[in-house]
Amino acid sequence: MKKVSIIGATGYTGGELIRYLLRHPGVRVVHVSSERSAGQKVSALHPDLLGKIDLILHKQDPDKIAKDSDLVFLCLPHAESATAAKRYLDLGVKVIDLSADFRLKSAALYEKWYKVRHPQPALLKQAVYGLTEFYRSKIKGAKLIANPGCYSTTSILTAMPLVKKGLAKRGSIVIDAKSGVSGAGRKVEEKYIFGETHENFLAYGVSGHRHLPEIEQELGVPATFVAHLLPVFRGILVTVYAKLSRKISVKDLHKIYSDFYKGERFVRVLDEGKFPDIRAVQHSNFCHIGVGMDPKGDTAVIVGVTDNLGKGAAGQAVQNMNLVLGFKEETGL
Ligand SMILES: NC(=O)c1ccc[n+]([C@@H]2O[C@H](COP(=O)([O-])OP(=O)(O)OC[C@H]3O[C@@H](n4cnc5c(N)ncnc54)[C@H](OP(=O)(O)O)[C@@H]3O)[C@@H](O)[C@H]2O)c1
Repeated sequence: MKKVSIIGATGYTGGELIRYLLRHPGVRVVHVSSERSAGQKVSALHPDLLGKIDLILHKQDPDKIAKDSDLVFLCLPHAESATAAKRYLDLGVKVIDLSADFRLKSAALYEKWYKVRHPQPALLKQAVYGLTEFYRSKIKGAKLIANPGCYSTTSILTAMPLVKKGLAKRGSIVIDAKSGVSGAGRKVEEKYIFGETHENFLAYGVSGHRHLPEIEQELGVPATFVAHLLPVFRGILVTVYAKLSRKISVKDLHKIYSDFYKGERFVRVLDEGKFPDIRAVQHSNFCHIGVGMDPKGDTAVIVGVTDNLGKGAAGQAVQNMNLVLGFKEETGL
């Protein structure tokens, strides 16, 4: 049995990780940390866990956590995570970081978008970007995994076949993205409270969302990305529009997508003419993709959905953990 710990277990991704890991046959959660709720049972913060896991939340004690754990998940805000990652790596523990701290390869780019100095730029070289479908072999041997952003995961999976097959005219990719409110985490901010989000719908980060540089880094081409806040708790839907570089039928485009993701357990291309909805992927590690084209036949219209807390965070983190710790990739998922 492998032992793992969750740093920042009171938040949305920490709670979701515990739910996934309770179903995992080869892993036991040994420590759960919180700075503000130390001393309370984890089920006091995540009531659905009552009777399923009795761990008490403790403030971080890296020496003890490292001694008892094969791997730690960091579910902390950016910048806090990088500092913690260094500590655990130095103590010989593998780290899966759910924050943005190690996703961008360039510290300068990180500092531009996150408006803080990178706390551990020297670790960027060794971090492996954890979009499992594209980095499987590197993830297997990694000590530090940068789990991708939720919008980024959904956008990259949805757009990548167009890019890899040279089907998108350069500069024409537009990603119209919508997320449920849990994407912002559990912290209290007025714009995310029920009264503001219920029966409301809005665009944000229009002049620059932090997931854009991550998406462009991985796609290797420029894109326009606009995020919207959906009045639901969980789920992301992105619509990717791209001018086609050559004439192609929607049937052939659909076949390209189906072939591209053939054999992938967690990416499902729907039948031709079908488009996904977020309910189908909530509480799961799946990404569903629908392939279409506008009636003029010059623009691909690809729709992708994930659960931001699933494939967009905790699910993918477990998928990556499985590779790092030597389990079958789909175990517990
Ligand atoms: N939500 C998503 O859909 C999603 C998806 C992908 C990635 N992520 C990323 O994953 C990370 C966690 O997100 P989340 O949604 O779970 O956030 P969250 O719900 O706000 O939870 C944050 C956690 O971090 C801890 N924390 C906050 N400030 C801290 C500090 N200064 N020092 C130590 N611990 C601190 C909190 O612990 P206390 O109990 O002490 O308050 C809490 O457990 C973030 O970096 C986020 O960007 C989130």
